[in-house]
Amino acid sequence: MNDDEKGLNDVTDRKAKAAVIGVGLIGEQHAESYFENPRAELVMVCDMNPERARAVGERFGVPWTADMDDVGKSEAEIVSVATPDHAHCSPVLAMLDAGKHIVVEKPLATVTEEALRMVNLANRKNLMMTVNLGNRWNPTYTNIRDSVQSGEIGNPVMTYSRTSDTIWVPRKMLSWAGRSGPQWFLFAHTMDLVRWIIGQEAHEVYAIGEKKILKSEGIDAYDAIQAMVRFDDSFATFETSWIVPEAFPHIVESLLTLNGSNGRIQLDGANGGFELSSDQVGKHMYARPSLWTYFKLPYTWWGALRNMVDCVLDGGEPAITAADGLRVVAMIEAMERSIETRQPVTIDSRLKA
Ligand SMILES: NC(=O)c1ccc[n+]([C@@H]2O[C@H](COP(=O)([O-])OP(=O)(O)OC[C@H]3O[C@@H](n4cnc5c(N)ncnc54)[C@H](O)[C@@H]3O)[C@@H](O)[C@H]2O)c1
Repeated sequence: MNDDEKGLNDVTDRKAKAAVIGVGLIGEQHAESYFENPRAELVMVCDMNPERARAVGERFGVPWTADMDDVGKSEAEIVSVATPDHAHCSPVLAMLDAGKHIVVEKPLATVTEEALRMVNLANRKNLMMTVNLGNRWNPTYTNIRDSVQSGEIGNPVMTYSRTSDTIWVPRKMLSWAGRSGPQWFLFAHTMDLVRWIIGQEAHEVYAIGEKKILKSEGIDAYDAIQAMVRFDDSFATFETSWIVPEAFPHIVESLLTLNGSNGRIQLDGANGGFELSSDQVGKHMYARPSLWTYFKLPYTWWGALRNMVDCVLDGGEPAITAADGLRVVAMIEAMERSIETRQPVTIDSRLKA
């Protein structure tokens, strides 16, 4: 019996077939990630804008369509959904109905009720769904998490996280900025990261935010938000702004300080690496690698996509679960509610919405 008859080649050579819905700035990169992954085969791209679908389809030499039903009928096993923040739910539900595993861009949704519908349908259909929170493969953050989880700063006590964009992002980069905001666009990353690094869940939030400068330009989004969050056994302040001046030399600004019972970690994303001061193990050091090197590594920024391909081929659960995505949506929605009501809001109450 040869290898083909034994089915061995089927196992070793099999590629997971993937398609992408919404091939704008980020969806085109999803298509590229599947195209370049030796374990995947890009089989179709879709965008409601046919010119965009055609351009990306022709770039990778694959069929393109403006009708997502074509993706549902295609042989794709995995579908990436990279439509704007507020437009993830209907393509995700349609693709789950069609029996596809899902990689959805962050945030999973901008309404907890929509996120719940997606998670429930994925569970009912026994399909995998993950959220592209690529920072979980960023070596700077994996090193920070390893340090915290190995006890180098003792027990987490207080965290400070600030991630902001220059005003260029809502003004020029995102045509749909007024239907999202820095909370959905940026807190989706930082809230997930802090949960993951400290290994604790968030339960209550009090937040203040202001809509003034962007609103005066016709963009209905928060200029800036500050939120205090109570976790299982620690607390955190999250800040974000969409009005950092264009003169600032980076599009994104990221700062993170983790204060523990016996040490501290501090990261300034612009400088790369992080600073660890630990009485626990008696050291003060600057740890590498830099934040920017991860863009060049296939298993880093696009780790969630590669992870889904590996799960389809090898079995196992995605590293970022649908429940992670849901939890982050509930945190952000509770924060919005707190801004509106000027009261602390219980995050779990959102999960029961
Ligand atoms: N993981 C990250 O680091 C990261 C970074 C930036 C953006 N994002 C996320 O990626 C998503 C897309 O952002 P973007 O900057 O690429 O936006 P974009 O506006 O450049 O692209 C969105 C595309 O989706 C298409 N589209 C909209 N609704 C559709 C539908 N129902 N069916 C098919 N196509 C549809 C649009 O025509 C457009 O081409 C957002 O959720 C955003 O937050 C993630």
